Amino acid sequence: MTSTRPFGILVPLAEEAEALFALMQEDGATKTHRIGGRDYHTGHLFGRPCVLTLSRVGKVAAATAAVGLIHEYAVGAILNVGVAGGAATSVKVGDIVVGETMLQHDLDARPIFPRYEVPLTGVSRFSADAAISENLSQAVLDFLTEDLPALPAEIRDQFALASPRLHQGLIISGDQFVNGHDAVAALRHDLPDALAIEMESGAIGQVCHDYGIPCAVLRIISDSADDNAHVDFPAFLRAVASYYSHHILRRFLTRADWTL
Ligand code: ADE
Repeated sequence: MTSTRPFGILVPLAEEAEALFALMQEDGATKTHRIGGRDYHTGHLFGRPCVLTLSRVGKVAAATAAVGLIHEYAVGAILNVGVAGGAATSVKVGDIVVGETMLQHDLDARPIFPRYEVPLTGVSRFSADAAISENLSQAVLDFLTEDLPALPAEIRDQFALASPRLHQGLIISGDQFVNGHDAVAALRHDLPDALAIEMESGAIGQVCHDYGIPCAVLRIISDSADDNAHVDFPAFLRAVASYYSHHILRRFLTRADWTL
């Protein structure tokens, strides 16, 4: 079944949202409504009806923005696009992680509920939609072979992008920017299968689970979440992440065979 419901695109940081909004404006008329202190832009992105919102950072902000997309715009699915720190040592700056499951690593209601479990749901790992994620992963693979080589060499050198790869698996979220050896080591110890660390998708997974809305998560690795994570964040967003998300979303949204 192909749905005509719009795709909700939820982006935590302004640089990324602005770049995608500019692409929506190239794709025809847009309308913007301000609800709950955030802007929701409706229009088309690469020919698909979309609603784009800048959630801002953190789990509450992301949950609120996801509820806005669902209640106010009846989106058929939510795609969360952003950057993340690498959790596994095999996940390098410039790699891409497509979430299969999302967990809130700072949620701990023990001894009443098991660690990480969202109380009264019985769930600690929320699942991304398999079909949407498969299409997203295919778009990433096509991006890596077709579009990444066109990223200028000086940008690849500036951010030490070696041979960017796709990873699929667990993404963990919490209300901390993880930026230290001990902190990332503890997360690796407790959640050895975690691939990426960020601050939103666990909450988006929970909201989408509650409402029965499919979701997918695309994260571009901006840093290694440890003491060596010397990244010029705004520069990475402008030069690398915006290029990645532009071309991955172009490939994803123009794929003929995805369904909501
Ligand atoms: N987003 C990007 N890098 C991050 C990190 N190291 N910790 C949390 N969120 C992030």
